[in-house]
Amino acid sequence: MTMQIERFESKEVLYTRALEIIKQVKAQGATTFGLATGGTMEPLYEKLRQSDIDFSDAISFNLDEYVGLDVQHDQSYNYYMHKQLFDCKPFKMSYLPNGLAENAEAEANRYEQLLQQHELDFQLLGIGVNGHIAFNEPGTSFASETHLVDLQPSTLEANARFFDSIEDVPKQAYTMGIQSILRAKVILLIATGEKKRAVLEQVIAGEYTENNPATALVKHNNVIILTDLQEGEN
Ligand code: PGA
Repeated sequence: MTMQIERFESKEVLYTRALEIIKQVKAQGATTFGLATGGTMEPLYEKLRQSDIDFSDAISFNLDEYVGLDVQHDQSYNYYMHKQLFDCKPFKMSYLPNGLAENAEAEANRYEQLLQQHELDFQLLGIGVNGHIAFNEPGTSFASETHLVDLQPSTLEANARFFDSIEDVPKQAYTMGIQSILRAKVILLIATGEKKRAVLEQVIAGEYTENNPATALVKHNNVIILTDLQEGEN
């Protein structure tokens, strides 16, 4: 197991480092990239857009997608990815779960099969205030693969800022499972802001509990954590 933790005083330096890691992984031959959404990733996508990186020979998979939103809906993760990255830096092929699929089980299976056919060389991850990775909420089995989830109240609240009201936040999502995520060869977790401290420090301390999904990462052999949280402060 190796977990490399890098703490930054400046977010600018943190995101420059994240860009450098992605460029390095790509230069070393990575062709399949797992991508993430959320506010944390926006400064990174800005850096990628401004960089000379070329993903046209690579494939991307996103971690998750809301159920019930059309790809044109401005809060769908499909829309987010186009705006943040794909329109400027297209991949050869980009996969996301289909939030409008009629049969949820078939959609989850389809996505999981695709993932198993394309080994992830790299996975970008954020972390929720409750420790979720992708939409794997506390209590999710560490053995889980792609599945449909009911979002927890804390996640609905955290994401309400992106919608007109909390009632508009979709209540369900498709998400890669924890096992699907752990299959990636390199995982880059970015966690910024005090709200993430409690769950992040559990990961760094090596705790391993399904109550904090991100702690599954402690058993992975190549995780890099970038944070602006300093040790011992609060
Ligand atoms: P955030 O979301 O980047 O908007 O804080 C992170 C997450 O829920 O994974």
